[in-house]
Amino acid sequence: MDLHVVILAAGKGSRMKSRIPKVMHCIAGKPMLAHVLDSARALNPAKIHIVVGHESGQVESAFDDSDISWIEQREQLGTGHAVREALPAIPDNAKVLILYGDVPLIQGRTLSDLLAPVSDSSMSLLTAELDDPQGYGRIIRNIADEVIAIVEQKDATDEQLAVQEVNTGILAASSNCLKSWLPALSNDNAQGEYYLTDIIAMAVADDVEIEVAQPEYLEEVQGVNNRLQLCELECFVQTRQAEQLMLAGVTLYDPNRLDIRGELIASQDVIIDINCVFEGRVELAEGVEIGPNCVLKDCVVGKGTRIHAHSVLESSEIGEDANIGPFARLRPGTKLGNQTKVGNFVETKKALVGEGSKINHLSYVGDAELGRNVNVGAGTITCNYDGVNKSKTVLGDGVFVGSNTALVAPVSVESNATIGAGSVVTSDVPEENLAVARARQKNISGWKRPVKESS
Ligand code: UD1
Ligand code: CA
Repeated sequence: MDLHVVILAAGKGSRMKSRIPKVMHCIAGKPMLAHVLDSARALNPAKIHIVVGHESGQVESAFDDSDISWIEQREQLGTGHAVREALPAIPDNAKVLILYGDVPLIQGRTLSDLLAPVSDSSMSLLTAELDDPQGYGRIIRNIADEVIAIVEQKDATDEQLAVQEVNTGILAASSNCLKSWLPALSNDNAQGEYYLTDIIAMAVADDVEIEVAQPEYLEEVQGVNNRLQLCELECFVQTRQAEQLMLAGVTLYDPNRLDIRGELIASQDVIIDINCVFEGRVELAEGVEIGPNCVLKDCVVGKGTRIHAHSVLESSEIGEDANIGPFARLRPGTKLGNQTKVGNFVETKKALVGEGSKINHLSYVGDAELGRNVNVGAGTITCNYDGVNKSKTVLGDGVFVGSNTALVAPVSVESNATIGAGSVVTSDVPEENLAVARARQKNISGWKRPVKESS
């Protein structure tokens, strides 16, 4: 049987108090709906149907993938109505899995367990035992311990409210069953809604068996209604990520002061000091050390490299045994070779820096190509922008740039040339030449300082 996944995401999410649709709020740097989609896709479904409300444009444009069909539920008449809206897009003889855009941490493994027994004579329900079942639909069982119904909190008797096994909302059934049950739902209940949960009693009436599965951990089925709950799941994910890193051989000076918003791939003996943030995809090779308060986004860092405190790196590639920071800013397109040094208050952008080269202090190097063993003195600036165009600076192998040099691009300094400190270099320098481009010093002998007139 083909698998069709239906993700309910039409709710307003008014308790988020936000202009952003609820399912677009992020956990670990990724919208909640993207988390659900990842778990759904891991099951190789034929199609994923997402039920959205009327202000759905923002959501749809963020996920315009070909395996998704969008279904607009104009009025939110209940979970049963929402799934019914998706039915016309689902073929007969398929398995249907119901997920929720605001229940982001559901795991693929839990779902495959849930799906296994589904057929025309058997459906599956994901339930959980809660110490505090307040607000959830309760699982009602007969004396033979078989599930016979789900009763919503608002419709439950006192005896039913004492039940601690709750409906997570996640369930799976055949499309044939759903097509016969959903049109028969009524909204004659405390909330005047078409409850998806009422199909349980219908399954019982039709002799369709009800299999029950449970999640590995409760956070998998936790829904998000406000920013407090969003934060609880964020902390849960961050803690798990930190634990996995430590077990894989990474030292974290404090796992509670690390944030991974994306994917961090770290080899053994990586050391990460406190308050570091990793975004996008970051790869750290063996023995990399990251000082406190660093932010790395979409970077690859080679073996043994040290990134000192307060450095910010984005879309950059760093070789082995390099030394970066403290207070370095590597902007997109920076590629540093092995044994390079980029020191404090240095900004680089689209800069290729060859092996062994150093930019140690207070410089801007942008749209530049540096060979090997180049030494860029303190306060050097590549003047890469004339207000309209960006131009390139090329420094050959072994070039020595004196302090406080302005390299006015386009300009090329050939290998082993030397630039005198304080130069404004506007034309190319041939190899091994010394270029001095500043006013010559004049010494005036016998110079008298002005004196104050006595009054
Ligand atoms: C539902 C279940 C309840 C379960 C709980 C778990 C029903 C009737 N009840 O209750 O048994 O314990 O989830 O959290 O199913 N949605 C739509 N369209 C609608 C209505 C809802 O897309 O017309 C979506 C919402 O965006 C939300 C989800 O479905 O993500 C659940 O809806 P909600 O009304 O919050 O259900 P609960 O009352 O929590
Ligand atoms: Ca409700």
